[in-house]
Amino acid sequence: MCGIVGIVGRGDVAPLIVDALKRLEYRGYDSAGVATLDGGQLDRRRAQGKLVNLERKLKEEPLGGRIGIGHTRWATHGVPNETNAHPHFSHDVAIVHNGIIENFAELRTELMADGYEFSSQTDTEVVAHLVARERKNGAEPVAAAHNALKRLQGAFAIALMFRGEDDLLVAARNGPPLAVGHGEGEMYLGSDAVALSPFTDVITYLEDGDWATVRRDRVEIFDIEGRPVERSRTKARSTSFMVDKGNHRHFMEKEIHEQPEVIGHTLAHYLDFVGGKTKDIALPFDFAKLDRLYISACGTAYLAGSIAKYWFERYARLAVDIDIASEFRYREMPLSPNSAALFISQSGETADTLASLRYCRSAGVPIAAVVNVQESTIARESDAIFPTLAGPEIGVASTKAFTCQLSVLASLAIRAAVERGFVSPERERELVRELSETPRFASAALKLDRQIEKLARELAQVKHVLYLGRDTSFPLAMEGALKLKEISYIHAEGYAAGELKHGPIALIDESMPVIVIAPHDRIFDKTVSNMQEVAARGGKIILITDTEGARRATIDALETIILPTVPELIAPIVYAVPIQMLAYFTAVFMGTDVDQPRNLAKSVTVE
Ligand code: AGP
Repeated sequence: MCGIVGIVGRGDVAPLIVDALKRLEYRGYDSAGVATLDGGQLDRRRAQGKLVNLERKLKEEPLGGRIGIGHTRWATHGVPNETNAHPHFSHDVAIVHNGIIENFAELRTELMADGYEFSSQTDTEVVAHLVARERKNGAEPVAAAHNALKRLQGAFAIALMFRGEDDLLVAARNGPPLAVGHGEGEMYLGSDAVALSPFTDVITYLEDGDWATVRRDRVEIFDIEGRPVERSRTKARSTSFMVDKGNHRHFMEKEIHEQPEVIGHTLAHYLDFVGGKTKDIALPFDFAKLDRLYISACGTAYLAGSIAKYWFERYARLAVDIDIASEFRYREMPLSPNSAALFISQSGETADTLASLRYCRSAGVPIAAVVNVQESTIARESDAIFPTLAGPEIGVASTKAFTCQLSVLASLAIRAAVERGFVSPERERELVRELSETPRFASAALKLDRQIEKLARELAQVKHVLYLGRDTSFPLAMEGALKLKEISYIHAEGYAAGELKHGPIALIDESMPVIVIAPHDRIFDKTVSNMQEVAARGGKIILITDTEGARRATIDALETIILPTVPELIAPIVYAVPIQMLAYFTAVFMGTDVDQPRNLAKSVTVE
């Protein structure tokens, strides 16, 4: 949820830290701060809101110093203001932290009883005082940090700096990611490799329970007992360029328009278009022997998994249990011995999804993950990775990662169907050809932008919206609602169209637009009945369908968005494009911060 950076450098580090923080702002942007050690003194600049506010402050009051730490925050404890902004100080200690210290209340009480005064409402400040108290009791900086770390419960990625220690940062990781970057006579800490990409691509990822001393010429890593551990150095594949918006107003708009290309890249990784086959993939399980597949994820990734459930069950005859990860991890579901678990995550760092993965691992279930960040924690803890090749997704609202997740999942479902003997070679050729057409159809959907933008202008006037769909369009209806509410702040709900008469129909009146996602398929006529129920009560219908659907809809829709006629298998992928555009344009009209909506962060690394 937050981004942390540390640099033990050769020259002034404050500008470098800010540059790294810019690459982490997608993780949170409620406030930001930098602290350095200069002339033996700890000093800091902090600012509420986005990084530009901190940059302005640093321009007015520059910070010198060859060692420093920095932070961009997504508030967990304490309102997003300057007082609660990191870095936090206590005597000769400075700290930045990502995560949640679960026992902070008892530690705060203990420290206040020892005379420590708190200036913030954060859990992080507790750690600073804990380390300071160790120092006061005579511990050297490294021992002080280690002793304090042993008191902490919860999730944390931490960087510590000490007055008088110009060549020492102490780092610790338990949950949220933390990477060490190896430079020439410099050393770096960052929440991910992208943050460090301007400085180095030689990365060591700390593992859970690791803590480390970081000096200009060496990094020493220990386990929580203080025993030295070895962690490999890898060459980061993360992008070494600062992702920019190109000629788009927002990253989200750019990423919506990248979809035909990245869907194609992703499908090509799994499908042999020429041979009309799904490619052989290394699997930690045998699809043919599975009696159950568990899928767990959060948010949009969960909705991608919900669509995949239809595909695995329909084509591969494989029963799927799909669960929101924050529920799955505590439900203690009995797991079948002939099962496998699939986790879907764009960032690969979502805490609830990672915890669900670890629950399955502890039960001995083989683990696979669909991730967009191949160096992420979820990727590293999986037995097999199915990458989405979406490229860095910066917009907080997930778009191209979602359609790439669907592309991977559709390919996997067909692969499973082949391996389980439910799809013949000719049927496989047909399904692979259908999938190969997805980029073309997604491009065609993008050409509806003018009509959708016009419709969005009207949608921006309403307070509530209902999305309806059946079959694979039902999770897509929920995704459409999620997209709209998370970037335009208009309340929206996605519902199974068949559920309308069991309650939600009470909501219908002329003030509540109903967006119906309904390609003309085997159950289209059922959805037409639902639309007639809405129309009979004065509801305003916006129908997203194809030519045949528009012809057969027999209702007076406020607006009909007509997509090309697409094969049933790929409809959810193609129909995702108009619902993304509808949310995007509505948010633009609402004047909200499309790429960094209020209260959100791109990667939710706390539970
Ligand atoms: C997507 O639009 C949302 N911003 C959010 O629901 C996101 O999908 C969810 O937090 C899961 O993130 P992940 O894919 O990185 O695990």
